[in-house]
Amino acid sequence: MHLKNFLPAFAVLAASVAFAADVGDSFLLHTRSTTMAFAKRNGAWNLLHYGPKVAQGADAAALASDGFAGGSFMATRRPAVYSAYGDKAQDKGINKFGGLQVTHADGCLTTYLEGVKAETVEDRPGVTHLVLTQKDRVYPFYVVQHFRAMEGCDVVETWVELRNEEKGAVRLGRMDSLALDFPLIANRFYLQSATGQWSCESQLVETELVRGQTIAIGSRSGVRDAWEANASFMLTVGEKATETSGRVIGGVLCWSGSWGLSVQRDQCDFVEVRAGADTSQGAYVLDAGKSITLPKFALTYSAAGKGQVSRNIHKWARDWQLPAGHKLRPVLLNSWEGSYFTFTEKVLHDMMDGVKEMGGELFVLDDGWFGTGKYARDAKNQDRVGLGDWVINPEKLPNGLVGLNDEAKKRGLAFGFWVEPEMVNTNSWIYNAHPDWIVREKTRPVNVGRGGSQTVLDYANPAVRQNIYDQLDALYSKIPGLSYIKWDANADFMNMGSPYLDAEHQANMPFDYTVGLYDLLAKLRAKYPQVDIQACSSGGGHADYGFLRYADEFWGSDNTDARERVFIQWGESQFYPACAIAAHVTDVPNHQTGRTTPLKYRFDVAMAGRLGFELHPKNMKPEEVAFAKQCVADYKRIRPTVQQGDLYRLVSPYGGSPLASLMYVSEDKRRAVVFVWSLERGICHDYPAPIVLQGLAQDASYRLKELNVMKGAKHVRVDGKALGGDALMSMGLPIRLRGDYDSAVFELTAE
Ligand code: GLA
Repeated sequence: MHLKNFLPAFAVLAASVAFAADVGDSFLLHTRSTTMAFAKRNGAWNLLHYGPKVAQGADAAALASDGFAGGSFMATRRPAVYSAYGDKAQDKGINKFGGLQVTHADGCLTTYLEGVKAETVEDRPGVTHLVLTQKDRVYPFYVVQHFRAMEGCDVVETWVELRNEEKGAVRLGRMDSLALDFPLIANRFYLQSATGQWSCESQLVETELVRGQTIAIGSRSGVRDAWEANASFMLTVGEKATETSGRVIGGVLCWSGSWGLSVQRDQCDFVEVRAGADTSQGAYVLDAGKSITLPKFALTYSAAGKGQVSRNIHKWARDWQLPAGHKLRPVLLNSWEGSYFTFTEKVLHDMMDGVKEMGGELFVLDDGWFGTGKYARDAKNQDRVGLGDWVINPEKLPNGLVGLNDEAKKRGLAFGFWVEPEMVNTNSWIYNAHPDWIVREKTRPVNVGRGGSQTVLDYANPAVRQNIYDQLDALYSKIPGLSYIKWDANADFMNMGSPYLDAEHQANMPFDYTVGLYDLLAKLRAKYPQVDIQACSSGGGHADYGFLRYADEFWGSDNTDARERVFIQWGESQFYPACAIAAHVTDVPNHQTGRTTPLKYRFDVAMAGRLGFELHPKNMKPEEVAFAKQCVADYKRIRPTVQQGDLYRLVSPYGGSPLASLMYVSEDKRRAVVFVWSLERGICHDYPAPIVLQGLAQDASYRLKELNVMKGAKHVRVDGKALGGDALMSMGLPIRLRGDYDSAVFELTAE
């Protein structure tokens, strides 16, 4: 496969040919309030500073440690912009760490980089694009490193292209996207990351990084890359940060395959942050004359705590990364929890009627509509058969997807459906015809997953991707106005190897798989730009910005218990904006936890993300339908603020707090929405400390309106009053909660 086809910023690169300016031996890369200072030392590029804005280059260079880390004479590393194994250190020795390890064509294990070219290239308005080209001092092996500084959101995107012009193949033992060495910048460091598993995604953990320690996180799934950990981190530099204080470097790797991220603070207080595609299965073989573009990394820095890190990344996501980050997301009903595999056309039509009545805009048919004959994915076979045969099951849906689309249209609803294009059941026609199309070792029995027969297709093989493209294209093209696809992926790599790749290139499979996946997604997205995509992977396994370059949102979790969702969505909100977090109101008792929460609580939690339903509306009582109607109508009004506004996390659910609270503020600060969710009941908890708001205009006066009020039970005495931004942000909003799982939503409108 020609990996150059996968370029995270291909258009930008193409444009960059138009204009390039040499930057000399030092460069300051600025965003609105941050600076990265680069300088060439001993022929190679170093990072002298990443943090608050410094305006004068000369000062930055003079102040930066001259490559000595922590003042120790033992230090044998320099703050390289891209740290490579074997790189010549400042004085003596070589770097034994580094995010890049190359075994050159002749077997040499070390790489010693020197600058060849440093230039800024043309890019979109508001972006400064620096390209540092380095080369091994002996071998024609090139490292081309890009830094795109997005002025408006204080984010720097960086990625690396490796080019092998040696006579033979090289082996990439490590090929990280980010391998930044920081000069000593503080005496304390804390690392926050998100870990999880099925149905408890994005649980936050934070630990101090002490001298001599390395903290590593990662996912080896290959597919569900955001389960074990999310490919993101917040590194506090100095005293422990809060939402509103402290110096924090935040970053996220845009990659849907296996990955690793580590932060090392060595014995000399030298800090190295590495992140990239995982190579634990073996070194990637890069053939002579080929290049490989590694996944993009987005970095940000805030001197005002973690909240600002999140807001920076959210803005970057909406402005630059999501395919249509400014489009308002529709209110939908997904059929899964309402009917699982048991639906008929009548059931689905009834669901459409129900969601339409409540004000919904889109109907999505989930799993169970495809597969034929003995491989029909029906109520009996369920998830044991059919994946890979993307044709309608006529027994279940005589009028097909086209018929359902027509029915949706008749009701004024948009239509979408579920697919799992990366997987096949061994019980499928496609697998029977092509048993060599799956990820596997040729010599070992195949391990199977869900349903006892699920395997992963070998997307390193272009014929496999073409087949799936053709099948999906055939479906999409017949459905006029198709508006949404839920793209699921319910497996890990349970086998390792590609029947398509030769013996020499076996270890390339995981990386080439993900590149192949992006190739397929890009083609579909290009042909069907109006079709929104939800990234799903057994719940929240695709909360990743690699996939979210092609998808508009991700399914937050299969766990739809509203109380659990407070924690999951809180974790996801660290790096993902509300417009991308799909949150559905479901039935009670909850199908995952068995917990019963009030309908209001379920709405109040789901309305903090991209609101949807996942239930059969006919099971709702008339008064519940009436309440839901009001909630949806209000959601549509506050939707621009929730989905496009700035997030302020006010009270964390962590640390035993009896409640959690967050708010969204529109960019112009004219509108805000505040959510409060109780987590634990207690007579004292019913009268919590006032909720101190953030992000409002100090001098504005906001009219407060409580939303989602059930049976007249309000939570404030000041409903309907105009309140000063300054008072709300200092004295706070006094609220009263009542009973188990109580919650409140407030809309604030500047007068
Ligand atoms: C996964 C998804 C669910 C649902 C099922 C269908 O578990 O996370 O939302 O789509 O698959 O089989």
